[in-house]
Amino acid sequence: QLNDLAVAAGLKYFGTAGQEGTITSDTTYRNIINNVHEFGQLTPENGMKWDATEGQPGKFTFQSGDIVAGVAKSNGQLLRCHTLVWYSQLPSWVSNGSWNRNTLQSVIESHISNVMGHYKGQCYAWDVVNEAISDDAQGNYRDSIFFKTFKTDYFPIAFKAAKKADPNAKLYYNDYNLEYNGAKTERALELVKLIKAAGAPIDGVGFQAHMTVGGTPSRTAMANLLKRFTALGVEVAYTELDIAHKNQPSSSSVQAQQATDYANMVGSCVDVDGCVGVTIWGFIDKYNWIQNGNAAIFDSNFNKKPAYSAISSVLAAA
Ligand code: G3I
Repeated sequence: QLNDLAVAAGLKYFGTAGQEGTITSDTTYRNIINNVHEFGQLTPENGMKWDATEGQPGKFTFQSGDIVAGVAKSNGQLLRCHTLVWYSQLPSWVSNGSWNRNTLQSVIESHISNVMGHYKGQCYAWDVVNEAISDDAQGNYRDSIFFKTFKTDYFPIAFKAAKKADPNAKLYYNDYNLEYNGAKTERALELVKLIKAAGAPIDGVGFQAHMTVGGTPSRTAMANLLKRFTALGVEVAYTELDIAHKNQPSSSSVQAQQATDYANMVGSCVDVDGCVGVTIWGFIDKYNWIQNGNAAIFDSNFNKKPAYSAISSVLAAA
């Protein structure tokens, strides 16, 4: 099974995002999530985000976040905690507030210390800052309330606060579309250097890896790209891997290409010292965030797709 094979191949884990509501409502789903041989690591899909944890200023709620954290704890699975400072799923009291540097810094620090404090000691890693780079041609920093208020100074502010709140958690920058060696990739490299230059701690970069069938780089290209980051002294991981069928029906040839693409992505992590693990963003098409994308490794009837076997083989061969 995937986590056992991944650990034998030298990774720390093979994991999945877990959907809070579905864990509660679907026993078959829950039983697969509970299988530590399959998934040695879990990430809460929504429960630890700002809108779930601090919907009103200073009123912290952890019911949703505790669902996946609790499952991981009782099964002895690693937990990746997601996410603290993100422009999306951000309550309007934050995004529409009228802030200056001092007031927004207090809000960020209070959010981080309360949420990380609640999960202290339970998180292998935290996605401290998520998706701070835009998809424009220059890879400009995303014009969020955080960037509007601080320019890039909110990165060190957030990472320093995170270190204080849980010194043992690995602190990550996490983003998508870093996989193509474009402007966004360059900006992410700059971001890591900028955080370090400001004297703040950063331990890892998460490559979300929301890919498309046939549009996924080769294993060698991906390994080389990951090495550009590990060369800066950070670990890397695939944190939200899925490979969607873009505008294509799920034929057997499309499924075969998807299997190849999954194998290349997972194989590239195995190839890089400092790539610690792979998390898929949901394991089953039925509950995937991309509707009709057929992006996952189990079909909607809980059958393993060719992608599942391809990942097994690439891990077994390592
Ligand atoms: O909880 C409410 C529910 O009360 C309401 O009735 C329902 C009606 O729409 O919405 C529910 O909230 C939804 C939430 O998922 C929980 O199911 C939101 O509308 C929906 O937007 C939200 O989507 C999530 C999305 O992040 C939000 O940006 C996806 O499940 C989640 O997979 C996705 O995950 C992100 C990562 O965090 C960051 N990287 C990209 C990735 C994919 O977008």
